[in-house]
Amino acid sequence: MAFLFHSDAERGAVFRDVFARELPDLEFFQSGRGVEPEKVRYLIAWTVPDDISRYSNLEVLFSIGAGVDQFHQDVVPQHVKVVRMVEDGIIRMMQEYVALGVLALHRDLPSYLEQQKRCSWHSIAARQASERRVGFLGLGMLAQAAIAHLTPFQFPLAGWSRSEKQIEGVACFHGEDQLAGFLKQTDILVCLLPLTERTRGMLNAQLFALLPGEARLLHVGRGPQLDQAALIEALDSGQLAAAMLDVTDPEPLPQDHPLWLHPKVMITPHIASVTQPHTAARSVVENIRRHRAGEELIGVVDRTLGY
Ligand code: NDP
Ligand code: OXD
Repeated sequence: MAFLFHSDAERGAVFRDVFARELPDLEFFQSGRGVEPEKVRYLIAWTVPDDISRYSNLEVLFSIGAGVDQFHQDVVPQHVKVVRMVEDGIIRMMQEYVALGVLALHRDLPSYLEQQKRCSWHSIAARQASERRVGFLGLGMLAQAAIAHLTPFQFPLAGWSRSEKQIEGVACFHGEDQLAGFLKQTDILVCLLPLTERTRGMLNAQLFALLPGEARLLHVGRGPQLDQAALIEALDSGQLAAAMLDVTDPEPLPQDHPLWLHPKVMITPHIASVTQPHTAARSVVENIRRHRAGEELIGVVDRTLGY
C-alpha cells in the first residue's frame, strides 16, 4: 500500500519525514516513477496528474491546498474520495490576512498609500469599527476562523452561506433569497467562497449595486469569481471605495492590466494563506488513520456541490 506525493519537492521532503515517523507501514513515493501504480491508495496533488487512471486502486485524492476547483473532477473516478486541505497553518495565515485586509480597508489605507505617492498629508474622517459592517460571502472553515479573530475590533459581523447557520455574534444569512438583504447591510465585503459553477462571476455589477455606497471589497476566494471590469467601473463611479485582491484572473494579471495601478486597489499575489508542510502532513496522516479505521475523513468534498 502506498502514498504518492505529487507536488513540490521541498514540501514533499517534510511529508516524507512525518510519514516515516507516523505511518511507517505505508510506502511513500515522491514521484510516479518507480511506484507500482496498483499499490497507490492515497495521492496528494495540486492538480490531478494526467496519468491518474494508472492508479487503479486509488481511494483518496487529497488537495495540497484548501481549494479543489483546480481539480478537473470529471477525470477522477467517482468512487475516489476528494479531500481538501484542512490544517492549522492555512487557517492561521487566513486569519492574519483577513484581519490585515479588513483593517486596511476600514482605515482607508489605499487612499493613504496614494497620498504618500504625492507627498500629501491629509487626514480622512475615520469611522468607528462599530459603525463599519463586515460581511463574509461564505461561512466555511476559513471565514469562521477569520471572523473569530475580528471579534475584538467590534465590527458588526455578518455572513452568507448556502445552508442555514447559527454563529454567535454573527448575523447569518443563507441561500439566494437572502443574498440581497445581506449585501444591503455590508460595508466591507469579504469573499471566501469556493469557486463553483454558482460562484463563478458572482462578484459582478449587479452584486456591487446592492452594496451601500462606498463599500469596500476584500477578495480572497478565487479570481474567476470576480468580474474585474465591473469592479473597475464600480470603483470609478464611487459605488465601491476600495478593493484589496489576493486573487485575480489570470494570475498574475498582464503587466498592462488597469487593476495594477488603480489608485483604489491593493493587490497581493495569492499569498493570503499557504499550506504549511508540517501541519499539513500531520493532518493528512490523521485522515489516513481515519480512513483505515473506517471513520469519516475531515474535509471531504461533496462532489455534486463542487466544494
Ligand atoms: P469551506 O468549504 O469550509 O466553506 C465554503 C463556504 O462557502 C461554506 O460556508 C459554503 O456554504 C459557502 N458556499 C459555497 N457555495 C455557496 C453558494 N452557492 N452560496 C452560498 N454559499 C456558498 O471552504 P474554506 O473556508 O476552507 O475555503 C474557502 C475558499 O477560500 C477555498 O475554496 C479557496 O477558494 C479559498 N482560499 C483562498 C486562499 C488564498 O490564499 N487566497 C487560501 C485558501 C483558500 P455552506 O456552509 O452552507 O456549505
Ligand atoms: C489554497 C490556496 O486553496 O492557496 O490553498 O488558494
